[in-house]
Amino acid sequence: MSMDFTDQRLSYEKGQLDQESIPASPFELLNVWMNEAIEAQVQEPYAMSLATCGADNKPSVRIVLLREITEKGIVFYTNYESAKGQDIAENPNAEVLFFWHELERQIRISGGVAKIAADKSSAYFQKRPHDSQVGAWVSQPQSGMVANREVMEAKFDALQNQYPENSQVPTPEFWGGYEITINEIEFWQGRANRMHDRIVYTQDKSSSNGAVNWTTKRLLP
Ligand SMILES: Cc1cc2nc3c(=O)[nH]c(=O)nc-3n(C[C@H](O)[C@H](O)[C@H](O)COP(=O)(O)O)c2cc1C
Repeated sequence: MSMDFTDQRLSYEKGQLDQESIPASPFELLNVWMNEAIEAQVQEPYAMSLATCGADNKPSVRIVLLREITEKGIVFYTNYESAKGQDIAENPNAEVLFFWHELERQIRISGGVAKIAADKSSAYFQKRPHDSQVGAWVSQPQSGMVANREVMEAKFDALQNQYPENSQVPTPEFWGGYEITINEIEFWQGRANRMHDRIVYTQDKSSSNGAVNWTTKRLLP
């Protein structure tokens, strides 16, 4: 059965982006937009689509949760041996997308990906709820095939016995954070008549003083 959505359209009228009045650093604007998304009670504002592409040249995409905005970029946590982890090992570049329908906004980030320090991953892992920690051990290797749900549940129960509620669950070596260093970031604000605002910040690699400078440009919608 096919479905036709060609008559479905919305007019976007909630905001605007002006190249003259945006901050020099995209991190400032990212913070403003993130805070506005939280205030607007966007459902899961931290959920972002992460696109990777391994040596097979086939892109793949999935949602992960933004866990930190650093001075260089953004951090998420996952299983290093998952399909995305293998993609990143083969090609350490990624693109990330946030879409906040409530604000008629999308943010698109691209950059290089690297594992964060193991002690930082462990500090975060140890902060997670006990059952999520156990779940990380169950899902190894994440993205690997499992015969059925019972196999997962038996593994979960065995690990719960091994690590009861108040005991410490060790941080798996195969689990941790990745940081995407932002090379380019696009802020997209929906506007009426498909005349959307798109402003892209690109890292200016020519700056000599070591400081990160950014250039901006407006793109046709
Ligand atoms: C709202 C939401 C949040 C998620 N957050 C994460 C996350 O932070 N880390 C993660 O590894 N997977 C997360 N997932 C699961 C991934 O989308 C994906 O199924 C899993 O990581 C395996 O992806 P892969 O096989 O491409 O490696 C999340 C899924 C949803 C729907």
